[in-house]
Amino acid sequence: MKIKTICCIGAGYVGGPTMSIIAQKCPHIKITVVDVNASRIAAWNDNNLNRLPIFEPELNDVVKEVRGRNLFFSTDVGKAIDEADMIFISVNTPTKTYGKGKGMAADLKYIELCARQIAKVAKQNKIVVEKSTLPVRTASAIKSILDNTGNGVQFQILSNPEFLAEGTAVQNLLKPDRVLIGGDTSTNEGEVAIQALVEIYSNWVPKKQILTTNVWSSELSKLTANAFLAQRVSSINAMSEICEKTGADIKEVSKAIGMDSRIGSKFLNASVGFGGSCFQKDILNLVYIARSYGLNEVADYWEQVVIMNEHQKNRFSDNIVSTLYNTVSGKKITFLGWAFKKDTNDTRESAAIKVADNLLNEQARISVYDPKVPKEKVYTDLDYLNTRSSSENKSLLTVNKDPYEACKNSHAISILTEWDEFKSYDWEGIYKNMQKPAFIFDGRGLLNKGELEKIGFIYYNIGTGN
Ligand code: NAD
Ligand code: UDX
Repeated sequence: MKIKTICCIGAGYVGGPTMSIIAQKCPHIKITVVDVNASRIAAWNDNNLNRLPIFEPELNDVVKEVRGRNLFFSTDVGKAIDEADMIFISVNTPTKTYGKGKGMAADLKYIELCARQIAKVAKQNKIVVEKSTLPVRTASAIKSILDNTGNGVQFQILSNPEFLAEGTAVQNLLKPDRVLIGGDTSTNEGEVAIQALVEIYSNWVPKKQILTTNVWSSELSKLTANAFLAQRVSSINAMSEICEKTGADIKEVSKAIGMDSRIGSKFLNASVGFGGSCFQKDILNLVYIARSYGLNEVADYWEQVVIMNEHQKNRFSDNIVSTLYNTVSGKKITFLGWAFKKDTNDTRESAAIKVADNLLNEQARISVYDPKVPKEKVYTDLDYLNTRSSSENKSLLTVNKDPYEACKNSHAISILTEWDEFKSYDWEGIYKNMQKPAFIFDGRGLLNKGELEKIGFIYYNIGTGN
């Protein structure tokens, strides 16, 4: 079966970049990305490519090449579903904030709405692809909705989880370590659907890197991959605390263990804590699934990864307070970085939010600079916590467009995101304009301790004892 038209529901951090690359590599396929968020779609259609809704290196060039050729962005969800041979569901699956499983389970309401809309609209057989990260066995719920509310047409459900990381999405999509496709391997129709998706990816991904499995393995592999990655960060962060007590240096420890080929060198950077929309949500979901099967030891094991991450964020802000003579009340503390990692404008679950909230509880005044995060987003992130009123957040925290202004007169600078530009700042100039003693709390191990100490800073790094 040859796919000629694709619809992708959800024009977010996954739907937008993924469909841009498929469109680039498959000019023979017409792709329409749809979303209920009209302003997001308008931004994807903006003539000024710098106003695309997400910032992702190299993405603008790809969008420029394919938009209007075989990639379209629209709010007309029904029409795009109707026209498509294959429908990707790429909507958000956040942690539930209400009812059973609140704070743990994935909220599948957006997925169900998609399934119902597909069922209502479809007049021909369709292949439905789960691109969103979903709890294992969600495909059976989607199938049940489609089969029971549809117009009698046949649906095949595939699971094709996305492994891109933000900030490197384009390169990850162009050269994926693997593409995973789960489907109904027990029927001929299932095999045909799997092969239709394999054929799309084989336009640029070597066949041996396209892995096909049953649906449940595919769904569970995505949760497993994120749990393992997050576990590495929590493991190295746990060691960073021991380093600070013992005089060992976490960078030396990371290098020493990373050279063991069984461990590998990636994902061993100690930090102020992992953020992003996926790790915490997916682990909590895994914990919830394990508990729902009565697997309490399994659940406890994985939950500890999230508990350790909370601890890492809290101890970072605690260290700032205790180092600044046990009071930050009225003191200006500058945050360099607000995004959850460099090269993205995404702030979901960013460690900066929790660290700021903790310091604001201590009545610090915070000044934030991030190269890509707009002012309104910083305030929305803080307001969402509901710790204090929106007007209090506005009066205690300011957002600066200029990093040097942000640092002026502050008692301490805190590095929350590893943006490259921070490394080449005029640190001598910054030092001159700060209160003394001038402190730096480097939550990313980004800056050069020796150079900064030479200037006069008191420098604290995660995982290095002073
Ligand atoms: P996102 O919030 O950036 O985008 C989701 C979009 O779906 C939103 O624009 C929303 O308006 C839209 N939407 C929701 N319900 C809709 C509906 N019924 N009809 C039309 N549009 C609808 O989310 P994201 O970061 O792109 O993540 C999407 C999925 O991919 C999640 O399941 C996530 O876990 C998974 N994932 C994310 C990443 C990542 O790096 N962000 C990586 C891999 C997998
Ligand atoms: C993650 C997964 O890597 C990706 O495969 C999945 O598809 C989505 O979730 P993402 O959240 O975009 O991607 O970024 P990632 O690079 O994994 O970083 C997540 C968080 O961990 C960031 O806050 C990052 O700063 C932190 N991190 C990562 C560390 O603190 N140390 C590390 O060594 C690596």
